[in-house]
Amino acid sequence: MKSYITTPIYYVNGSPHIGHAFTSIMADILKRNRQALGYELMLSTGVDEHGQKNQEAAQELGMPVEEYLDMRCAEFRDVFEKLGVEFDYFVRTSREGHKKAVAEMEQRIFDKGLIVKKQYTGTYCKGCEEFKKESDLTEDGQCPLHPTMQVEQTDETNYFLKMEPFREQLLKHIDDNSDFVQPESFRNELKKMLAEPLEDLCISRPKSRVTLGVELPFDTDFVTYVWFDALANYLTNIGWPEDGYQDWWAECEHMIGKDILKPHGVYWPLMLMAADLPLPKKLSVHSHWVGAGGVKMSKSIGNTVDPIEVMDKLGVDALRWYLARHMRADSDSQISVELIAQTYESELNNKLGNLLSRGAKFARKNFDGKLPVKGPLTAEDEALRQTVLDATAGMGEWIDLADIPARMQSIINAAAEMNNYFDKQAPWTLFKSEETKDRARDVVYVGLDCLRIVMEALQQVIPVSAGKALATLNVTDIARPWKPELDRLPGGSELDEIEPLFPRVQ
Ligand code: MSP
Repeated sequence: MKSYITTPIYYVNGSPHIGHAFTSIMADILKRNRQALGYELMLSTGVDEHGQKNQEAAQELGMPVEEYLDMRCAEFRDVFEKLGVEFDYFVRTSREGHKKAVAEMEQRIFDKGLIVKKQYTGTYCKGCEEFKKESDLTEDGQCPLHPTMQVEQTDETNYFLKMEPFREQLLKHIDDNSDFVQPESFRNELKKMLAEPLEDLCISRPKSRVTLGVELPFDTDFVTYVWFDALANYLTNIGWPEDGYQDWWAECEHMIGKDILKPHGVYWPLMLMAADLPLPKKLSVHSHWVGAGGVKMSKSIGNTVDPIEVMDKLGVDALRWYLARHMRADSDSQISVELIAQTYESELNNKLGNLLSRGAKFARKNFDGKLPVKGPLTAEDEALRQTVLDATAGMGEWIDLADIPARMQSIINAAAEMNNYFDKQAPWTLFKSEETKDRARDVVYVGLDCLRIVMEALQQVIPVSAGKALATLNVTDIARPWKPELDRLPGGSELDEIEPLFPRVQ
């Protein structure tokens, strides 16, 4: 059983930001989930190195372009490693093998007569790296997605891919495969984009304007349009056009933000159809993160969230948890350093961290430094155990991008129940009397065994902290395929010093 998950490849005209961190972390969570179920995984993420805006970013810094690209690529790689993103393949579109394969794809399509050369006059947005129709622009003629960048007027001869011959076929594919685009709202948006005849897609840039790109195999005066080149990464990563890519390709899912639905939902499928290649299995679309109060993040407002700053202040799992827990599937979600810090405090520290220190510290102090063994159970114990099994069951099943927040919600609800259970059972009081001492032991056993299940489940989301908690509880062997199972706490084993799982930050 295979699963191939891709993230977009990111423009390197600036440092990695929260949007980049988000998609790659979500892809990593899905990877860990599917690995827990026993799947063989391929996760690709990386950088989109070509195009006008990367070229200009290098010029602005006065750096030779290759040196600039190497620097940014190392920066993105390093940030993803710090974020705990276990990618299997880091994409660089400057790789020779990738460039060769892009040219091969273009040549195949060209040979079928689907690429034509013609003059084009129009408006270009460098931010989107796309030509824009008048109806795409704001009243004052700017790109709504990049209001601070001036759109440019171009009058050029270029090569164009005919898209219209495949439009009906793509619409049929979307209708026949209800899961092809998720969530539903974006599927409908895509169908709207395909409701009218499609204009030809410009797939080249003259070298007089842009040099950073893959040379067209059939005309050396041009480089390939950055989107054509970038989209092809999904196939070139797994070895296309050589054989062997097919098994991965059949299981491919693209994670994308809503702003790049058109390239992934229109251009890419049509490029694949033109090259006689099968379509990916699924497009999972997410909305955006905006600042507190719903304000779009921008450096000038000062409400951007720097993933490195958050990690330095609160640790990587504070960021991973917030993104997983508070993402909304089809509307924008709010983020700020303060919101992340509040969630860290109220959920990670007060709910999950608290359970570990309450239960394990108590056991270490009162049960000869050892974890308790199982004793007789009451109806309340059984009820809590069932709650935890139900709340974590979803992590033992296949997760899609849009499922992640609901699964986090049920886990944190269960953690609240576990804290209520400790409050109500009050093992510290039970322990004071000889008659109820044994009951204190049973309560702590139940609480810590439930916490073990929760932490096993959370290894998919906050692997560093969950790993620490499991190590504290002496849990070493976690079966795969994983599902929540009771009574695997190694009762009787010696406890080491209990370190706080989510230390308080000032
Ligand atoms: N290079 C292209 C993608 C090519 S994929 C074949 C590109 N790069 S990007 O760096 O501009 O953005 C990549 C991703 O970041 C997109 O999925 C976009 O939605 C996401 N995000 C950018 N800002 C975001 C937020 N504020 N919130 C969430 N994701 C956002 O486009």
